[in-house]
Amino acid sequence: MTAIEADLRRGNFRIGDRVQLTDPKGRMHTITLEAGKEFHTHRGFIRHDDLIGAPDGSTLTNTVGIEYLAIRPLLADYVMSMPRGAAVVYPKDAGQIVMMGDIFPGAVVVEAGVGSGALSMSLLRAVGESGRVLSFERRTDFATIAQANARAFFGSDHPAWTVTVGDLVESLPAAVEPGTVDRVVLDMLAPWECLDAVGDALIPGGLLICYVATATQLSRVAEAMRDHGGFTEPHAWESMVRDWHLEGLAVRPVHRMHGHTGFLITTRRLAPGVTPPLRKRRPGRGYDADAAEEWTAEDLGERVPSDKRVRRTARSIGDGPRLP
Ligand SMILES: C[S@@+](CC[C@H](N)C(=O)[O-])C[C@H]1O[C@@H](n2cnc3c(N)ncnc32)[C@H](O)[C@@H]1O
Repeated sequence: MTAIEADLRRGNFRIGDRVQLTDPKGRMHTITLEAGKEFHTHRGFIRHDDLIGAPDGSTLTNTVGIEYLAIRPLLADYVMSMPRGAAVVYPKDAGQIVMMGDIFPGAVVVEAGVGSGALSMSLLRAVGESGRVLSFERRTDFATIAQANARAFFGSDHPAWTVTVGDLVESLPAAVEPGTVDRVVLDMLAPWECLDAVGDALIPGGLLICYVATATQLSRVAEAMRDHGGFTEPHAWESMVRDWHLEGLAVRPVHRMHGHTGFLITTRRLAPGVTPPLRKRRPGRGYDADAAEEWTAEDLGERVPSDKRVRRTARSIGDGPRLP
């Protein structure tokens, strides 16, 4: 497959290739080349035949003289323009997941849910032909869209990919032997519901990475990882990418950016029977909507100065700051 993908990405444009067309205003359209077909806009059209056989990265003019750049889309371009069932993991987060999730060639990776298949494609590229990506998706319609998207991108069904329609918790134990999965990647509403099944499937030292959209999900999954008892202390972060405008002397960040996509959290599977080492810091109280008591500053991880320290500070201020 790796060789086939390399072949797909190289050489002059062929029938069946996806080509990204960019007009002088930067507007992009993606077409799939077919003999005899035309790509029309409200100002002129392009003949596919004029592109077939042309080198990747060519320019051509349409029937009214508008110039277009024609280039093969990258995976990052493709996932942003392909048909969607569910919301996709953006390329900036997929890059983080592959690196921080330590997805390596030959790895056995479990993924849920599949959604539109955007993240699956990055995982497949990272594990390569010798690896396995076992993806689980509750919804048949989403699984079908994802498989069609991946097939269109890789040119055929990727040999490392298996998609199972079903709930991860119910389907995973039947799909893998306990302790045989290297990495688990969860992008779903309630990853905390899957921790027992994931913990059983992972090899000792295996890694779980979850992508969640909200802070409340992040908090809940972090607490569930701790409560499970078989995982290391979780690590959470988010990434923000700000594009830059590059024009003459106007070199500056763009005015608009994606301020938020999601949070990532990782943890490692401990060996069977091993409990996590004691944390040095006292863990904060977990979120309990029904709890009657008030939240305290300590619950939220704030450092609260001792009464003695506050008294000392108050004394040192005396009558308060004096104006010069
Ligand atoms: C946001 S989408 C995933 C998008 C995907 N990562 C992508 O990049 O295209 C979340 C998916 O998880 C599926 N899902 C939620 N809980 C699940 C579970 N327990 N087992 C399997 N699939 C689940 C949903 O049906 C939905 O399609």
